[in-house]
Amino acid sequence: MTQLTGLLDTEAIRKDFPALDRTVHDGRRLVYLDNAATSQKPRQVLDALTTYYERHNANVHRGVHVLAEEATALYEGARDRVATFINAPSRDEVIFTKNASESLNLVANMLGWADDPYRVDERTEIVITEMEHHSNIVPWQLLSQRTGATLRWFGLTDDGRLDLSRIEEVITERTKIVSFVLVSNILGTVNPVETIVRRAQEVGALVLIDASQAAPHQVLDVQALQADFVAFTGHKMCGPTGIGVLWGRQELLEDLPPFLGGGEMIETVSMSSSTYAPAPYKFEAGTPPIAQAVGLGAAIDYLSGIGMERIAAHEHAITAYALERLASVPDLRVIGPPDVRDRGAAISFTLGDIHPHDVGQVLDELGIAVRVGHHCARPVCLRYGVPATTRASFYLYSTPAEVDALVEGLEHVRDFFG
Ligand code: ALA
Repeated sequence: MTQLTGLLDTEAIRKDFPALDRTVHDGRRLVYLDNAATSQKPRQVLDALTTYYERHNANVHRGVHVLAEEATALYEGARDRVATFINAPSRDEVIFTKNASESLNLVANMLGWADDPYRVDERTEIVITEMEHHSNIVPWQLLSQRTGATLRWFGLTDDGRLDLSRIEEVITERTKIVSFVLVSNILGTVNPVETIVRRAQEVGALVLIDASQAAPHQVLDVQALQADFVAFTGHKMCGPTGIGVLWGRQELLEDLPPFLGGGEMIETVSMSSSTYAPAPYKFEAGTPPIAQAVGLGAAIDYLSGIGMERIAAHEHAITAYALERLASVPDLRVIGPPDVRDRGAAISFTLGDIHPHDVGQVLDELGIAVRVGHHCARPVCLRYGVPATTRASFYLYSTPAEVDALVEGLEHVRDFFG
């Protein structure tokens, strides 16, 4: 086995994750390689959720009683943690949503209802890429159908990168917003943010970055990215489901209209009109996901305690090792950049003409959890001429032994299907 450097003490880390200790299918040790779909949760997050519900459960921002004040402090404390984690200039730029999809849809709807200079209409263009998750395609299709705006996109190179060779023809003076993924959930590609942001800024277009597959794995600095909006979700980064984040530049959040109306987001309401609370509350109608935000705050404490640089180094080593080991499996084709320096911690592949669902099922019988299908990125499968892929994705607790188990499992799959 190659000597791997930069690995975390996974033996200690794995003790924090009860689910990793379980067995499946008659005592087989679980090998959880579906982290791009959702991560497992450490005891620290589970405890934060339990403590919240056992001791502090109340609605936020409304009550004068002790529990309401505690719940509000915990909820707003989670916002502070997110702001620090992403290096936001202000905590008021952090909007809680239910997931990254909602964050992306929120931006599309802000623009859909906006006046000039943000207004999207039949004279304007929206730019995305062919490697987007459906959650960063469909909202823009809906917006262009509603407004008459033209939807354009960057295609992909054969080795799984964005084809930016005609960037000046794709992002033009008509472009209103460029929305793209930082790290692809299916290809693993890490995209060249700087090049895209520079061009968008030249033409005065807004930039939205989907950081769902980046926030869990690396340092995420929204100021360094120089985007206008950044979206991500909590459940892929050790947090609970039901909590997402949209970060947006303060002046934009002040200017842009709300999407959902209701309690919490108003200043005053009369029967004929309303005025709105300042951001972020303007975008958080209704009772927010309080416990989920508290859980996300605990997840951020947990990840920060280990250190995002160290987590990134660990995953880089595991991904490099996995690419090397997978290269030895006959008929295995990696869909995505071959070089580990261009990738995050997800590897999609096909195995000869064995259908990925069959691959996934046999692996599951061996206790190995991977995702199969189009990974909510169907245009990528169409681009590379495959109906689906098998995807193994790693996290801070993944080990070289789990990579070995995957490779052995794939040999078994090949034997099984002759
Ligand atoms: N977006 C998640 C994935 O890629 C669900 O699996």
